[in-house]
Amino acid sequence: MPVKILMVCLGNICRSPLAEGILQSKLPKEKFIVDSAGTGDWHAGQQPDKRSVATARNRGLDITQQRARQIKTSDFDKFDYIYVMDASNYNNVVKLAPNTTAKEKVRLMMDALYPGENIEVPDPYFGGDDGFYNVYDMLDEACTIVADNLLKTHS
Ligand code: 4NP
Repeated sequence: MPVKILMVCLGNICRSPLAEGILQSKLPKEKFIVDSAGTGDWHAGQQPDKRSVATARNRGLDITQQRARQIKTSDFDKFDYIYVMDASNYNNVVKLAPNTTAKEKVRLMMDALYPGENIEVPDPYFGGDDGFYNVYDMLDEACTIVADNLLKTHS
């Protein structure tokens, strides 16, 4: 059975689609399934934000096949690890968790790189293109650590 990882942000159009694409690119597809979702449903069914698509494309990743969806309770059964981008995502996701085991699957993304420092991946939605490259670079660093740890744990 493949290991399943879910990346979560608010809208599932800016940060978590990048996180999905980046982590996927660092793991073998036969062993790991990476998906993403949002805590909100406003953008359900949409492609990632065009600025996320362009940022990914400039860094060599195609994320255009992704479609936004809202996280649901059954995701806690389906996924082994749930990574959230900020404290607000964390609170919203943990609120949905049906039990303690489910709650323990939820981790703050940047904790992989800076454990316990509560660093957030900032929401780039209302800013300029720079914000998207900053998000990409933060996620790329954190996903390198996450991928290394996953490969070690599930070898
Ligand atoms: P994301 O960014 O959570 O990184 O996908 C956002 C996308 C849309 C909105 C907020 C944040 N919005 O308010 O529609």
